[in-house]
Amino acid sequence: MSIKDIAAAYESLSKRDLRVLMVIEALHRYHEYVPLERLLRWLKENEDSTLKSIRQLNKYALVSRSGGLGYRLTFRGYDVLAIHALAKMGIIESLSPSPIGSGKESDVYATQLIAGGRGVVKFHRLGRISFRNVRKYRLWLGERRHVSWLYESRISAHMEYVALVGTYKAGVPVPQPIAVNRHAVVMSYIDGEKLADANLSDPATAWEQIMNAVKTAFEAGYIHGDLSEFNIIMAGDKPYLIDWPQWVPTKIIGSMEKLINDIKNLAFFFARKYDYRPNIDPIIEEYRKMYGEIHLEKPDATYSKLLDELMHMIRNESGNNEDAAS
Ligand SMILES: Nc1ncnc2c1ncn2[C@@H]1O[C@H](COP(=O)(O)OP(=O)(O)OP(=O)(O)O)[C@@H](O)[C@H]1O
Ligand SMILES: [Mg+2]
Repeated sequence: MSIKDIAAAYESLSKRDLRVLMVIEALHRYHEYVPLERLLRWLKENEDSTLKSIRQLNKYALVSRSGGLGYRLTFRGYDVLAIHALAKMGIIESLSPSPIGSGKESDVYATQLIAGGRGVVKFHRLGRISFRNVRKYRLWLGERRHVSWLYESRISAHMEYVALVGTYKAGVPVPQPIAVNRHAVVMSYIDGEKLADANLSDPATAWEQIMNAVKTAFEAGYIHGDLSEFNIIMAGDKPYLIDWPQWVPTKIIGSMEKLINDIKNLAFFFARKYDYRPNIDPIIEEYRKMYGEIHLEKPDATYSKLLDELMHMIRNESGNNEDAAS
């Protein structure tokens, strides 16, 4: 059985199938593989109809089975739960049949927004977050170590969403954040092409605009941390900075290296592709001065606070099934 696309899988599910999927998600709090008997006890439905639903979920690769152990969600199953919640929230209407962008760490689909206009749904596949070593994160994940991929992806999506909200508000050219659910971020669609693929007629102006965007983001508290020609979309002459899950707070010790790295990466690209060699020394010098006026915090303290915020968002998320299992 080939793997169908997410949208087709979603449309073919009955209410009961969806409910079974949601209960499996909820029971992941306790089990890496959810035993059938646990599922039956929870659903209070007869075994035949539950098994029928499981067969349907299996057919679309939304759950997978391990011998005697039970069932677990696949990424695709998690995708379907996020789509379902986003549709119920009145955010999205449909998904493109196949991804418009797909990489190691995300699948990006085009969508029609119910409020009007085009959007994208970015499903995070893993956490490209930078606080893996924070003690608190380990503790928190420790309780749920069975399904860490699920939580890492979820945190990664919320990290990206937080950065999009903060930078967008500050006037940085980024996609407009629309919603976040589980591991999926909905944002506006930027109609253009990657900086890597574009043929700029005026690289100097593009460079200036990008440096302005970096500075506005910096002042709002955000350093991109993975800036490159692949994470900038040129919509006509206007650059948009995308792909934010690994952002770094301006105010932590060590953030300056990330910032300089971003700037150097881009300068290297402009030199290589356009033979345009901006002088980055004065730019770095200016940031050094700005850093002199910031009271830098230890990363652990900042990330702990940030994690609390993300956890709060996650707990209050629409369609959150966690509590259903307790
Ligand atoms: N808001 C958007 N508007 C239009 N296209 C987008 C948008 N966000 C992402 N994309 C497309 O999806 C691709 C991947 O998005 P993004 O860079 O955010 O994720 P990623 O995790 O880096 O994925 P990859 O591993 O492929 O680089 C982008 O290169 C771009 O083509
Ligand atoms: Mg990217």
